[in-house]
Amino acid sequence: MTHVFHRNPRQTLAVAVAGKGIELIDSNGKHYIDASGGAAVSCLGHGHPRVIEAIKQQVDSLAYAHTSFFTTEVSEELARTLAQAAPGDLNHVYFVSGGSEAVEAALKLARQYFVEIGQTERRHFIARRQSYHGNTLGALAIGGNAWRREPFLPLLVPAHHVAPCYAYRDQSAGETDQQYAQRLADELEAKILELGPQSVAAFVAETVVGATAGAVPPVADYLKRIRAVCDKYGVLLILDEIMSGMGRTGHLFACEEDGVVPDIVTIAKGLAAGYQPIGAMISTSRIYDAVLGGSGFFQHGHTYIGHATACAAALAVQQTIAEDHLLENVLARGEQLRARLRETLGDHPNVGDIRGRGLFVGVEFVADRQTKATLDPALKTHARLKSTAMQNGLLIYPMGGTVDGVRGDHVLFAPPFICSAQDIDRIVERFAESVQAVMPATRGALA
Ligand SMILES: Cc1ncc(COP(=O)(O)O)c(C=O)c1O
Repeated sequence: MTHVFHRNPRQTLAVAVAGKGIELIDSNGKHYIDASGGAAVSCLGHGHPRVIEAIKQQVDSLAYAHTSFFTTEVSEELARTLAQAAPGDLNHVYFVSGGSEAVEAALKLARQYFVEIGQTERRHFIARRQSYHGNTLGALAIGGNAWRREPFLPLLVPAHHVAPCYAYRDQSAGETDQQYAQRLADELEAKILELGPQSVAAFVAETVVGATAGAVPPVADYLKRIRAVCDKYGVLLILDEIMSGMGRTGHLFACEEDGVVPDIVTIAKGLAAGYQPIGAMISTSRIYDAVLGGSGFFQHGHTYIGHATACAAALAVQQTIAEDHLLENVLARGEQLRARLRETLGDHPNVGDIRGRGLFVGVEFVADRQTKATLDPALKTHARLKSTAMQNGLLIYPMGGTVDGVRGDHVLFAPPFICSAQDIDRIVERFAESVQAVMPATRGALA
């Protein structure tokens, strides 16, 4: 009997005992290529000596000091590094211990900002269907994934949802990217007008959709048009880059590629690459100054915010990414990964779409490539792909419910930024074998 309350108590899990480079090793000595970094976390792979050394040194001098008494040099330096790298005047970094906490902090800061400036009516949050922003009640409330929300609906604060930017399924034939982006921006504007422009606090979106839809990037212009709608009505734009940020797309902040600066951005996962639990919310000077010049106090906080050891790990990770020029590798290996997937699986009758940015790559599976009909959810294709890939020594991040929380299957790849060209080839080889085992192409499309 296990006394750990596992997330899926009926499942028998392998025991992870070691990690080295891009591989994890279990207690039977089996090696797995970690092609998803867990949930897009381990961006430097495992056992990175520089990060381990930074953690040891920090623990030797100071592991933790409560942020109501002290600041620390390491948290100040990490905040300076992130603020310098962030676009626009995203200058103020609030450290937390993970993604959901970062989103909670963003929601509360958005609300408090409006209280500070006297716009106390502003209380509504608009997000997108099929989004994921975390599992704490506030983050779950704004998230748009029906399956995750369903059992907890009576506990969730009201939130409002509009369509995601999901070109593969929702862009009409003949509709240009600009027309599609405008249609979605118009939908957001209509929702703001329906709720009453004076009552809307913020629009929240993942810059590139991660877990729930599988690396879905926005079409060109989408975020610019969304930004314009938000500005028109004084609504804050919160971009959730918990999965897509910190270099995953080839840019430290994914929104740089879209030429858009949000009012608040959330990051986590790759920030410390899994060596320590840490996330952050970064706000613009306008919002920070409103708190500073208003009540002078952000009415929020947790015991472990600004944790020195977590900050030391994150600082070492960010320095490594910069000094080893890893973002160049992310772009090159990402191109290679998509190209190799297309060469190997592009004609498979059940492969509908191969997409993504940088080393953030998704493959969506279908029953019929023409109609894009989804596979029968009862087949649990995503779960079978995960276990078959594991048998083949490959860790990927598959999920069902891609389309509406129930229908659809996809696989997410988020390999470490240190991957070589040969590593990518091995990943695609093992993945293709796994796909062939679950959905043999020779038998035709699986319904
Ligand atoms: C976009 C996004 N936001 C928020 C979260 C929640 O982060 P955490 O699991 O660290 O609480 C996740 C986790 O997958 C995520 O992908």
